[in-house]
Amino acid sequence: MNILVVGGGGREHALVWKLAQDSRKPRLFCAPGNAGTAELAVNLPIAAEDVPALVAWAKANRPDLTVVGPEAPLCAGLTDALQREGLRVFGPSQAAAQMEGSKVFAKDVMVAAGVPTAQSRIFTDAAEAVAYVRQLGAPIVIKAEGLAAGKGVTVCATVAQAEQAIRESLVDHAFGAAGARVLVEEFLDGEEASLLALVDGEHVVLLSSAQDHKRVFDNDQGPNTGGMGAYSPAPVVTAEMLPVIEREVFGRTLAELRKRGIVYKGVLYAGLMMTKAGPRVLEFNARFGDPETQVILPRLEGDLIPALEACIDGTLAPGHVRWKPQACVCVVMAAGGYPGAYAKGHEIQGLKQAAAVKDAVVFHAGTKLQDGKVVTAGGRVLGVTALGAALPAAVARAYEAVGKIAWTGAQFRKDIAARALKR
Ligand code: AMP
Ligand code: GLY
Repeated sequence: MNILVVGGGGREHALVWKLAQDSRKPRLFCAPGNAGTAELAVNLPIAAEDVPALVAWAKANRPDLTVVGPEAPLCAGLTDALQREGLRVFGPSQAAAQMEGSKVFAKDVMVAAGVPTAQSRIFTDAAEAVAYVRQLGAPIVIKAEGLAAGKGVTVCATVAQAEQAIRESLVDHAFGAAGARVLVEEFLDGEEASLLALVDGEHVVLLSSAQDHKRVFDNDQGPNTGGMGAYSPAPVVTAEMLPVIEREVFGRTLAELRKRGIVYKGVLYAGLMMTKAGPRVLEFNARFGDPETQVILPRLEGDLIPALEACIDGTLAPGHVRWKPQACVCVVMAAGGYPGAYAKGHEIQGLKQAAAVKDAVVFHAGTKLQDGKVVTAGGRVLGVTALGAALPAAVARAYEAVGKIAWTGAQFRKDIAARALKR
């Protein structure tokens, strides 16, 4: 069996790592991959966003399955294009991926379906948006509609900040077409959690909960990032809440999409705010989370391929996922300066020593091989991950492994999972 994994981050290394352990022993290809995937798969020199080149490769090589990691190719219609060639793809169609690609579309679906979410209004005119913000007051949240590389959402403590965010998007066109419409959204207070589900168009199977750490510095200080670490399970999502979320978030959303003639297959990821009044959806993503995947897949018992195929075939059942009792923690090691400007090309030391720590695995994100050495090649460089009997042991092991790794300027948060440990 040949499988193509599209993407080159920590999420894709985790996918390749899990797929490599499958009892079907697939031959793996990763486009473009990184120095970590190179050990388990054949890296292809094709960017994850290059839909025509990916389709051309797939047409020539006929993989039995393609697993799409990032949102950009999904939103650009990679799944549809591969399906037109008669190929099997794990990942939603372009129409379904609008749940991530357009916050206006997602909000419209949520409101129509009665999914618990923040109140919001859509604006194309800056003056009208500003007037509305002045009426509501701060704190308030301004969101550019489209994909903006994680920079489109501003949580504003003051009205002035909100006005600036509106101007950036609607007047200065900082996000281009992705910011031609903004949502002005009610601020929700609480602890965040990520709940991902496998979906086959009709059936939903929740994956184990996780919590990301979006700010770059300890105690949730500093700018937002792609995610500086994660752990699973997340105790903020209690067992009693799971059936409620499954019904009110996933069930209602998929029913509304079906009404609109959209069959959603793949991973649907709900970013939730656990408020005093219950869970509220902050956003949907149309793919596995990064770094959530790095802590979810190591906890998955058994094979992943049957679950992915069941999503494609419409035969998904709860038995497709079983969880190890252990907790998992991922500490992201990033380049100095990230999420701002950062250097590339620094040699990474200690990877072997880190991987030798019991129950630890180092997922690569922004790395590449250069003259036989692993060097940094991105903002988020590694996801140093460990399992433990319970969360404290997993945290200790992950940081033990982090301690073995060094390169010039490396930075990481020292408080991954601290919220859960305090409970
Ligand atoms: P999003 O891309 O919509 O998930 O937003 C990015 C981050 O902004 C989220 O992870 C939250 O930390 C924050 N956020 C988004 N929407 C809200 C909201 N309505 N209230 C409070 N924080 C929010
Ligand atoms: N960890 C956040 C995301 O994958 O979007």
